Amino acid sequence: MSLPSKATTSLLRHAGRQQLPALRSSAALVQKRNRADSPFDASTSHAEFTSPFHRGTRNEQDTTVIPNWGKYRSSSSETGNKLFQYFMVGSFGGLTALGAKNTVQDFLVNMSASADVLAQAKVEVDLSQIPEGKNVIIKWRGKPVFVRHRTADEIKEAEDEDWKKLRDPQPDEDRVKKPEWLVMLGVCTHLGCVPIGEAGDYGGWFCPCHGSHYDISGRVRKGPAPLNLEIPEYDFPEDGLMVIG
Ligand code: FES
Repeated sequence: MSLPSKATTSLLRHAGRQQLPALRSSAALVQKRNRADSPFDASTSHAEFTSPFHRGTRNEQDTTVIPNWGKYRSSSSETGNKLFQYFMVGSFGGLTALGAKNTVQDFLVNMSASADVLAQAKVEVDLSQIPEGKNVIIKWRGKPVFVRHRTADEIKEAEDEDWKKLRDPQPDEDRVKKPEWLVMLGVCTHLGCVPIGEAGDYGGWFCPCHGSHYDISGRVRKGPAPLNLEIPEYDFPEDGLMVIG
């Protein structure tokens, strides 16, 4: 290092030493001013909070002390508080039940059949078009329905049968609303084939799939079918008219 630069360095050092006290005092002043402006000043925040676990002075802690929560206690009476709690619980329970009911109701409404589907679910049959001793097959809800206009002899034969000895015991009067009209689902109770009318050993229906025989009341008499032919819902709203479904 040359002589002039050595002199410059020593001059700067000297000047720094001279100015250090002034710099320190100005830094302290700035720090003091900042602390006064800060909302988190330690001296004030500690003074405002007193832990409930402190006993006596601030530094004396004891975890066995039961804190006094008095200032958090409700100013209302016990009965008033209970009434308020019951009211809140009851209100929320009621609202929850209402929401659940509406949800279930919406679900059921969406799942239920619409008006046009319900209209198709019923079939009207003009009985005047079916002569005595004849069968017709009506399609209802995708299934065949047998309608038989029975003769007086057939009715007598069906009623005289000793039904208690049958595989699926059922008197003829339990299977018809009017003795001359026999209405049944045309689905074999064995495996679901469609039996043939006016066939079989009993003058009723015969299922060719596995050889089940049904009598003139649609009761199973022979073969593997376990049950009588099923009776659907039907009614006679007026003379000469039948509604199935
Ligand atoms: S389906 Fe009719 S007898 Fe088997």
